Amino acid sequence: MTDIKIKITDRDGVIHEIEAPTDMNMNLMEVVRSYELAPEGTIGICGGMAMCASCQCYVTSDHDLPEKSDDEEAMLSEAFNVRENSRLGCQLHITESMDGLEVELAPEEL
Ligand code: FES
Repeated sequence: MTDIKIKITDRDGVIHEIEAPTDMNMNLMEVVRSYELAPEGTIGICGGMAMCASCQCYVTSDHDLPEKSDDEEAMLSEAFNVRENSRLGCQLHITESMDGLEVELAPEEL
């Protein structure tokens, strides 16, 4: 059992250094929710189905993350505020190789 460290910048620019378990089959969106780093109802709206982009984040560290699925690509092509380093948090499953990951939550889509 290992926890990894992740640095998450919330939508107010506050940096949180949190620990996330690699053995609970969690994704990054669920980690953000469990630490209440974004208000309820503003993240994870589709329940992690790659269908809402409320979990969009910008990956600012140099990690080799799994490629985007077609569903993730499709959702990001329709979302707002998308950047080169955008990912859907719900599609990033927490693994040991993500130790030290740094992400910033994308602004809420209104
Ligand atoms: S929670 Fe809806 S796309 Fe990630």
